[in-house]
Amino acid sequence: MHAFDWLGEWAVKGENDPLASFWMPFTANRAFKANPRQLVSASGMHYQSGDGRQILDGTSGLWCSNAGHCRPEITEAIAKAAATLDFAPTFQLGHPLPFELAQRIAALMPEGLDRIFFTNSGSESVDTALKIALNIQRAKGQGTRTRLIGRERGYHGTGFGGISVGGLVNNRRAFGGGLPGVDHIRHTHDIERNAFTRGFPQHGAELADDLQRLVDLHGADTIAAVIVEPMAGSTGVLIPPTGYLQRLREICDRHGIILIFDEVITAFGRVGGATAAGQWGVTPDIITMAKGLTNAAVPMGAVAVKRELHDAVIDSVPGGIELFHGYTYSGHPLASAAGLATLDLYARDGLFDRATELGTYWEDAAHSLKGARHVIDIRTIGLVAGIELEPRPGAPTARAMELFHACFDNGLLVRATGDIIALSPPLIVEKAQIDEMFGKVGELLGRID
Ligand SMILES: Cc1ncc(COP(=O)(O)O)c(C=O)c1O
Repeated sequence: MHAFDWLGEWAVKGENDPLASFWMPFTANRAFKANPRQLVSASGMHYQSGDGRQILDGTSGLWCSNAGHCRPEITEAIAKAAATLDFAPTFQLGHPLPFELAQRIAALMPEGLDRIFFTNSGSESVDTALKIALNIQRAKGQGTRTRLIGRERGYHGTGFGGISVGGLVNNRRAFGGGLPGVDHIRHTHDIERNAFTRGFPQHGAELADDLQRLVDLHGADTIAAVIVEPMAGSTGVLIPPTGYLQRLREICDRHGIILIFDEVITAFGRVGGATAAGQWGVTPDIITMAKGLTNAAVPMGAVAVKRELHDAVIDSVPGGIELFHGYTYSGHPLASAAGLATLDLYARDGLFDRATELGTYWEDAAHSLKGARHVIDIRTIGLVAGIELEPRPGAPTARAMELFHACFDNGLLVRATGDIIALSPPLIVEKAQIDEMFGKVGELLGRID
């Protein structure tokens, strides 16, 4: 099959370069279009490629299809919603589905985070959370608190707020450097002390004290919020050291700083339980989510806020609109229907328990690659694994990208980020598929330079 056959009639109408118009996100466009890799359908644990091959999904798409692909329970709910109420505004009007979904999400959040704002993506959830945090401080008479704190190697999407608190220079420097008044604490990645840890690394809780350093530097009365991913996924599976998140919580409490957990990846079963916060016993003030919320079948994000902080904003305005923020598609009927069906599926099939049930098997399979060529660290938690490779001299990231391509060509989807290969399969993964994933990665590692 020709790589463009999936384009059907359009491709044979004489268009020279049928791939030219789509400016692809976070992609080396020229390289991709010279050698395109297409996915044309999906079911359960597999994608089908444009050239007719089955590809085992080792990454839940982009950390998002947690229940596996094209689940009929979800696609049918979307179809029904589309035929019943294709769209209805949620500005000064309502329709039933987002109210129901908000209640259902609230019930899954850690105690107290039961007020839910809807967005359409992780990036929008992050920018919404940052705006809500600023608004809360203002409502509490703390209007001087405008500084936002992120963390090195954090990824919080691509909105201006997200790139500013994010810790990735490439995502920021071409765009004016991001918002002013932002600072960052240090990341927690420390291979020298923590290489090949299973679960939480032992060393590094003290890195949370970096927040205290920024308080001392800027003054607590200038700091509105700090945002971290409980586990950084996109920048290579950076698992929080034992005690680190607790320590961040304590410093925030001491200084009136709002703690935001960006759980766009970790929510909905990835590390076991509905959230990492709940699973790991540290309660932030705000949680951002997206991805697994709808199993990625329709874009949707959400922000959960502690009730008393929500109430502070609502009560600070005597009448009229309390929060000047929202999206045309906040609480969209199709997304809400997908969310409800997804949460039903997670509950019915016990998918939030899978990371715990399979945890040891997963860990053992991943760590069986210790000693494989190029591998300098393996990190695992829940149903996530990061395999860090020695960078090729003079060509950082090239080795992981080559492995990603080799895996795809051999029927496995992994994610390459920097010199790290990340795996995060749908939670329906079976043991034999776990063996297949790590078996293939191990074999292909032996074949690349
Ligand atoms: C922690 C985190 N926050 C935010 C985002 C951005 O989400 P989206 O791509 O849906 O805007 C991501 C995406 O991977 C993420 O991992």
